[in-house]
Amino acid sequence: MTCLSLLLGLTLAANPSVFDVRTYGAKPNMDISQALSTAWKNACASLTQSELFIPNGVFYLKRAILQGPCKAPIKVQLQGTLRATNDLTGFNEEDGWVTFKYINGLTLMGGGTFDGQGKSVWGKQCGQGKYCSKLPMNIRFDYITNSLVRDIISLDSKQFHMNVLGCQNVTFLHVRAIASGSSPNTDGIHIGRSFGINITDAHIQTGDDCVSLGDGSKKITITKVTCGPGHGISVGSLGLYKNEQPVEGVFVRNCTLINTMNGVRIKTWPDSFVGSASDIHFEDIIMENSGNPILIDQEYCLWNKCNKKVPSKIQIKDVTFKDIRGTSATANAINLICSSGFPCQNIELVDIDLKYNGQGHITSQCKNVKPKILGVHNPTACLAN
Ligand SMILES: *[C@@H]1O[C@H](CO)[C@@H](O)[C@H](O)[C@H]1NC(C)=O
Ligand SMILES: *[C@@H]1O[C@H](CO)[C@@H](O)[C@H](O)[C@H]1NC(C)=O
Ligand SMILES: *[C@@H]1O[C@H](CO)[C@@H](O)[C@H](O)[C@H]1NC(C)=O
Repeated sequence: MTCLSLLLGLTLAANPSVFDVRTYGAKPNMDISQALSTAWKNACASLTQSELFIPNGVFYLKRAILQGPCKAPIKVQLQGTLRATNDLTGFNEEDGWVTFKYINGLTLMGGGTFDGQGKSVWGKQCGQGKYCSKLPMNIRFDYITNSLVRDIISLDSKQFHMNVLGCQNVTFLHVRAIASGSSPNTDGIHIGRSFGINITDAHIQTGDDCVSLGDGSKKITITKVTCGPGHGISVGSLGLYKNEQPVEGVFVRNCTLINTMNGVRIKTWPDSFVGSASDIHFEDIIMENSGNPILIDQEYCLWNKCNKKVPSKIQIKDVTFKDIRGTSATANAINLICSSGFPCQNIELVDIDLKYNGQGHITSQCKNVKPKILGVHNPTACLAN
């Protein structure tokens, strides 16, 4: 390589073409929907690595669909706050407020905030037993590959904070999600039909699941995540829909759950479609006053939408709960409620050391499962089985 081409290469790597939204007319405290969309189109068309830049300040945004494929890797540097409006016209079921789609080599970073302004809708259009699917999720990642999302904050999402669908090789590093513990359906990070997703060093305080893994989640690693308030870390719910793909290869390690409604759980609907969840490992988890710290629930049923008498057809197998310690907010600390049609197979409990925070004994409850128990076992699971 000649000196010149080496220099050129270094210059390109160090100074990607920067597309600053201000160049496209964005001004603080104004709606930047159009400026963002144009800046994105230009950045995405760049033949060399590019950067879409959103500086400090508050920028209103009705909606953004940042769609590839792009010609080269692309960085989105959000330093300021994108603030949602409360105009919900045009949003359909499952839509995102900000959607990243069909991009290979995306880096989303910058310390900025996606402020969904959810307080304006929580408990009004939705909640109170009503599910309102038309509220947008804060950030959608659809069919994103070989990408990194780091140091961003999702605040007060109207629905899920972040939704990951059809993605491969994506790392979430040091992201935060913040919403009130009573906000409805505000899962922190929901993953479905994706392969090779890592979440590490995240802080998630929200009103629903901290991280939830839907069907087709494979090779998912979740480490050093702190959850609470919220509903805990969940696989599922599974079985509500036809043709769901298996969940397999899930590693949840070195996480802390504080004041969550549940700890680590696998939930499947009764009277369900067929499916499976296997090779799932929860390890080195600290519970601080969390309810139901260890939970398999194959009778999961919301809104009385099911017949609990018909067993779930999801086969759960090869699951370990290892080195799980701390305090439980419920007397029942271990609940393994498996399907009578498809009893759980090869479930291991190793070094479980939990204390009940209330009065009385710490207990466990089991159905259709014979777990292997090793090491410390406070409480002992399935004594009556
Ligand atoms: C994901 O990463 C693996 C290992 O580096 C690679 O073989 C695979 O092609 C990647 N997937 C995509 C969609 O690029
Ligand atoms: C995710 O973490 C696993 C285990 O540490 C590692 O093997 C894999 O390469 C990581 N994947 C990505 C996309 O960083
Ligand atoms: C992860 O483990 C380290 C070392 O044991 C500990 O200091 C840290 O608090 C843990 N992090 C979480 C989120 O549990």
